[in-house]
Amino acid sequence: MITISNLKAGYGKLEILHDISLTFAERQFSAVLGPNGSGKSTLMKAIMNLNTVFGGSIQLRERALIGEPTEAISRLGIAYVPQRENIFDELSVLENLQLGARVLPKDERPTALKELREIFPILGRRGAQQAVTLSGGEHQMLAIAIAWLSKPSIMLLDEPSAGLAPAIATDVFRVLLELREQGITLIVVEQNARRVLQYCDYAFVLREGMLVFQGSAEECLRDEETIKSYLGVH
Ligand SMILES: Nc1ncnc2c1ncn2[C@@H]1O[C@H](COP(=O)(O)OP(=O)(O)OP(=O)(O)O)[C@@H](O)[C@H]1O
Ligand SMILES: [Mg+2]
Repeated sequence: MITISNLKAGYGKLEILHDISLTFAERQFSAVLGPNGSGKSTLMKAIMNLNTVFGGSIQLRERALIGEPTEAISRLGIAYVPQRENIFDELSVLENLQLGARVLPKDERPTALKELREIFPILGRRGAQQAVTLSGGEHQMLAIAIAWLSKPSIMLLDEPSAGLAPAIATDVFRVLLELREQGITLIVVEQNARRVLQYCDYAFVLREGMLVFQGSAEECLRDEETIKSYLGVH
């Protein structure tokens, strides 16, 4: 469980997130929604200590994360898949996966890579291919797979379905549901509210750096008018 209280964060001296308080529940699939520039990626970066925090607290269960090096936060079991530059383009798919597996003890790596091929079958067939040549969906699967290899208890995914055709986005969400079945807590930034609400348990809506709405997926779908007005979509 990640608990954020009165978080103010941004870049340099610029405050982007204003007084955010929320809890990402354990083993749930939480979505972070909001229009462009509302601070969704900034929230993920704040959890990973990749920007400036001006105040408030971020706790992983009882442990304070603010000020911890990003490496240490990853070692606590939080894997982050950024919105961009989330794989090594010039390496092959297999090399990317082997790099991802390096955080595991040596004797666990073969089993993890084997299990990975069951969750992400498409990658098994693409091992020798240079990562830059992957399709959009394969690219996202690879980025998620690399993060999964560190055996995280929490995964932060920044727009994993952006730019994908609807059928391919569905494949990505199916994989995410499987990861949640494994007990992984998912925190997923998504532009397409209607789509992610079909899969997530709970959603948070940001607007101009503030938390303006939260509720279960069902509540959000029932209250679609509110969501629409918050997100500015029609
Ligand atoms: N490195 C940075 N330096 C300064 N300002 C930044 C930086 N990164 C983002 N911002 C600003 O912070 C605000 C929030 O950006 P953020 O990337 O968190 O939005 P977002 O909700 O993820 O948007 P999108 O849906 O387009 O990805 C924007 O106004 C953006 O210009
Ligand atoms: Mg973003």
